[in-house]
Amino acid sequence: MNGGAMKPVRVGLIGLGVVGCQVARILTEEAEALQARTGIPLRLEKVAVRDLGKERDFTPEGAILTTEPFDVVNSAEVDIVVELIGGEDPAFDLAIGAARKRKGFVTANKLLLALRGAEVFSAFEKSGARLGFEAAVAGAIPIIRSIRESFSGDQVELIQGIVNGTGNYILSRMTDEGSRFEDVLKDAQALGYAEADPTLDVEGIDSAHKITILAALAFETVVDFSDVYTEGITRITPEDVISAGELGYRIKLLGIARRIEDAISLRVHPAMLPQRCLMANVNGPFNAVETRSKRAGVSTLVGRGAGGGPTATAVLSDIVSMARDIASGGGARMAPLGSPVGGMEKLPVIPMDELESEYYLRFTVPDRPGVLAQIAGALGDNGISIASMIQRERMENQPVSVVLMTHNAVEADMKRSLTHIESSGICLAPTMIIRIAENDRD
Ligand SMILES: NC(=O)c1ccc[n+]([C@@H]2O[C@H](COP(=O)([O-])OP(=O)(O)OC[C@H]3O[C@@H](n4cnc5c(N)ncnc54)[C@H](OP(=O)(O)O)[C@@H]3O)[C@@H](O)[C@H]2O)c1
Repeated sequence: MNGGAMKPVRVGLIGLGVVGCQVARILTEEAEALQARTGIPLRLEKVAVRDLGKERDFTPEGAILTTEPFDVVNSAEVDIVVELIGGEDPAFDLAIGAARKRKGFVTANKLLLALRGAEVFSAFEKSGARLGFEAAVAGAIPIIRSIRESFSGDQVELIQGIVNGTGNYILSRMTDEGSRFEDVLKDAQALGYAEADPTLDVEGIDSAHKITILAALAFETVVDFSDVYTEGITRITPEDVISAGELGYRIKLLGIARRIEDAISLRVHPAMLPQRCLMANVNGPFNAVETRSKRAGVSTLVGRGAGGGPTATAVLSDIVSMARDIASGGGARMAPLGSPVGGMEKLPVIPMDELESEYYLRFTVPDRPGVLAQIAGALGDNGISIASMIQRERMENQPVSVVLMTHNAVEADMKRSLTHIESSGICLAPTMIIRIAENDRD
């Protein structure tokens, strides 16, 4: 460095909520430490919120506050725009506006990138402006950089992970305490781990947003969010969690993106993982992402996937990396996804019906002779064989649970068997199906 005063890189922040407050705090209170570490002075110049009068964890002094987010994007005093408001609208227009103005844009908005990613990525490619979205997937875990850069010389075949902290917190507590989903959810909401409307988290939608982004990045393909098969955790009962334990498994909500030759499989659903495996032991609000690639084999990153502090760390990593680029005069810019969206082909998505998996099944049936034979018969007629079984203690005149683990079966055959069993009238409640996770190690 030449000792002369370096021009500060000016940051405009849109949103001062859970994540935005932490980002603003670091940019202001830790400005000197950041400069010492990176060599670049960063200045928080402008901040947009919805309500100027709201009490907040942190309100930056010195920055100009506005309620007009487009003022931040259009300001000649802002070099990098940080969008931390979430949702599609107006976040999409803010992103496109920043690309047109050739400003760096940092976002944690997985919903935006899952639903409108192709448009956003290509706008930044065309303008040559930088787009950072490390915070959009798995909080502080550096999975975006890892796939885009560290695996760029390899071929990713599988990404699977626990990418929703709320879902994992709920399932972990259900497992540890044998509690019901509804009770743990209430507690999680009281403790701030779950939103008042938990739909995106517990129905698997948030995980599907993240899998959409990870699959596009890993397989260099255009991914439609609607192509991700999505199933949440709301139907899991304490009995399933206990049975899984007795069988040597733990239930986790997994996002899975797999490349099979020239096609991809995209899914989010509860899955049973062998208790001994690393991801089965990632509990509470923690996230884990496992990557399997052709040469490197399996590697897993584990860390805090949400919350103001961890997410702010990921946001800051993008700000600092852009600021370094700006301070050094630019240089070659990488397309946001590594390779240009324009040149990407859309790989076909393998239908769920073609999936092969082992299955956990729990039937609620009357306690009478012949029922088990009827279930086994319907499965056998569709080529599905039973690997193990648990039958709970009988209580007079009470329905019983029959828990079965199957050998590998095709999803379409499984569906056909279940339709047959349920239409025969022996099931007293809907049957629970949980797929067994692929856990192949090489
Ligand atoms: N929270 C997490 O743990 C976490 C983790 C990973 C990723 N993310 C992502 O990070 C982003 C922010 O999440 P968050 O939890 O920080 O959200 P949040 O707490 O709800 O905060 C949103 C902020 O955006 C402001 N805002 C909303 N609409 C606006 C508009 N039209 N103009 C100006 N300001 C507006 C709000 O202003 P007011 O305060 O005035 O209402 C608020 O300060 C989202 O994309 C989320 O998915 C969050």
